[in-house]
Amino acid sequence: MKNIMVTGGAGFIGSAFVRYMVKQYPQYNVIVYDKLTYAGNLDNLLPVHDEPNYRFERGDIADRETVKRVFDSHQIDTVVNFAAESHVDRSILSPDAFIHTDVVGVYILLDESKQHGLERFLHVSTDEVYGDVDEGFSVEADPFAPNSPYAASKAGGELMVRAYHVTHGLNAVITRGSNTFGPYHYPEKLIPFFVTEALDNRPLPVYGDGMQVRDWLYVDDHARGVDVVLHKGVAGEAYNVAGENLRHNMDITKQILSLLGKGDSLIKYVPDRPGHDRRYAMNCDKLRALGWEREKPFEARLEETVKWYVDNEWWWRKIKTGEYLDYYKRQYAARLAAAE
Ligand code: NAD
Ligand code: TYD
Repeated sequence: MKNIMVTGGAGFIGSAFVRYMVKQYPQYNVIVYDKLTYAGNLDNLLPVHDEPNYRFERGDIADRETVKRVFDSHQIDTVVNFAAESHVDRSILSPDAFIHTDVVGVYILLDESKQHGLERFLHVSTDEVYGDVDEGFSVEADPFAPNSPYAASKAGGELMVRAYHVTHGLNAVITRGSNTFGPYHYPEKLIPFFVTEALDNRPLPVYGDGMQVRDWLYVDDHARGVDVVLHKGVAGEAYNVAGENLRHNMDITKQILSLLGKGDSLIKYVPDRPGHDRRYAMNCDKLRALGWEREKPFEARLEETVKWYVDNEWWWRKIKTGEYLDYYKRQYAARLAAAE
């Protein structure tokens, strides 16, 4: 392993992985390949911009010619695929881009990786492929039951990774991460959305009764989990990367308000997300057996994260303009009106 292409490396988790890898492994060249969709942001990569083992190439994972060119020009031997459309609510409003990237794009990357004889392919997937988990904890052998167009497209992409391993012998591994949070998180997802809205004293739209459960994983722990699986994972296997911090959405919402010194009056109960999974929870013994562990407790990480958004308004303020406001209107205007 020498020249690693990190697709989606300008996004939230991908950029955390790149910032980590560039510093941790000066002997590797890290080449970010990213389309720079609304969620891709070169500001996320400023901390590594001047590092000699970092490069950026703009491109779509579904564009075979550009993938080929970048594979050849950088002598890529390893792919770590973070590139995806990643937001459930957007997949309900407009699923096309999800099929394009999370299914077709993954297939193109796999096919070119096979043709180029790549040494290793790591695909980043999600706990959402297991669907709603009423009780207990998902293990890697559990069946898929995706419920949103996002989850279904991620499940489709992941199954194609499996097929390329079994059929073509591609040296592929898969990670399934739980809900991730931390700095540089696009402010449409629960935690960064609510923190930045609360800072502006704007309403926090809680879907349904707010008693849904998510398992929260700090972004740097997720990035290290991907690194561990990249180096130690057995080809053909999937590994859960779990936060093991199960929290109701309402608890997270109240913790954010309390950390910001804001009152609960900002909370607005709005009509639920269609097909909303009630609970996600994963077992992560398989990854732990490879030597991975989380670094700090959830509450400490949430406090650090909230502080990061308070201190880094330069990063998020300019995102919350233009296309973001169009999306906000499509997603929330009617819901918030219904709440009043
Ligand atoms: P993100 O939306 O912040 O970033 C996605 C990145 O992919 C962006 O930089 C975007 O420009 C790029 N991209 C999108 N389409 C592309 C294409 N066709 N070609 C090239 N680049 C493209 O996403 P994230 O939250 O960092 O998630 C990264 C990965 O982790 C995704 O595969 C996601 O499914 C998975 N995941 C996310 C979470 C989470 O809680 N955020 C949890 C588990 C798994
Ligand atoms: P989200 O961050 O979109 O992640 P995911 O849907 O992938 O789990 O949402 C986390 C939880 O927060 C989920 O149960 C939906 C809920 N939620 C709200 O109640 N209101 C919101 O405005 C958002 C964005 C999410």
